[in-house]
Amino acid sequence: MILALETSCDDTCAAVITSDGAIRSNVISSQGVHDRYGGVVPEIASRHHLELIGDVLGDALASAETTLGDLDLIAVTRGPGLVAALLVGVATAKALAAAHQKPLAAVDHLHGHIAAGFLAPEPFEPPFVSLVASGGHTLLAHVRHHGPGFELLGQTLDDAAGEAFDKGARLLGLGYPGGPALERLARNGDPDAFEFPIAARLKGLDFSFAGLKTALLYRIRDLGEAEAERRRADLAASYQRAIVEALAVRAERALHQTGIDRLALGGGVAANGPLRERIRRLGATLDIPPAQLCTDNAAMIASAARYVPALPFPDYLELDVYATGERALATAA
Ligand code: KG4
Ligand code: ZN
Repeated sequence: MILALETSCDDTCAAVITSDGAIRSNVISSQGVHDRYGGVVPEIASRHHLELIGDVLGDALASAETTLGDLDLIAVTRGPGLVAALLVGVATAKALAAAHQKPLAAVDHLHGHIAAGFLAPEPFEPPFVSLVASGGHTLLAHVRHHGPGFELLGQTLDDAAGEAFDKGARLLGLGYPGGPALERLARNGDPDAFEFPIAARLKGLDFSFAGLKTALLYRIRDLGEAEAERRRADLAASYQRAIVEALAVRAERALHQTGIDRLALGGGVAANGPLRERIRRLGATLDIPPAQLCTDNAAMIASAARYVPALPFPDYLELDVYATGERALATAA
């Protein structure tokens, strides 16, 4: 039995899985206090993690009908993420593990997103290409095995895909997080109404979304307030199309480049209907975990922990966290 904690951003998460990847519990407490700021405020997220982690942990153990004494391994997200938020999970995991003299596994968050696909009942086996698109990261990876250290094929040079959804939603007067709201608004719009850049000129497998957001801003200005308001759904649909195309075109290139016809989708943006549909049309063998395993959760961290060397007590007491951008994915431990 593996217990995992995940506190890299604004969701306080704890989960229990078995060593063969069956989920016994997967508790996610979304803080819901960041909406008014239009984004996650690190120090506020950290303080909320402190308040919530005890209850979330208790919930995860109770739902799994287990106790701390029964666990074989305690796992935690070590990075990348918000340092102040990560510290709460890592300090809690160390304390739990040390008090019960259990081993601890330090997991890379992106390895977690990929390992969501390894969970029961239908684990998706390597090799495959993974597209992870969330509020914090956008990348393509060549996954050759279950462990960390997969090959990074491409990543965003500026904003993440989820961030592009959130910023676009904000410009269109929608709340945070903007992805689901923008998707809803886009349902009544014409995706061909406006042309937005998809960074097609970027040759390789890297992404860029900053120009897209700026293009939307200028388009709204050019239309004027009344006309932009009248055409909000068209703007949303066209903007969404541009993000979806940017992701799909590069996913297709990655499949072509690696010669692999297996593709896994992960991260919060994988919940997007038009993206799922577009990716399905690529014709590859596809794995899209259920939405609650695509967005941040601790079951995916527990899943990854099965393939990470566990540190025995007390070796992990010195363990530190790492921030977003601090460590290359390919060398993530
Ligand atoms: O993976 P996640 O829960 O947290 C991070 O690690 O960032 O992803 C959250 C992101 C947000 O930017 C949110 O707007 C986006 O995923 N998102 C969506 C949808 N649902 C969530 N984007 C587009 N369409 C959706 N349906
Ligand atoms: Zn994430």
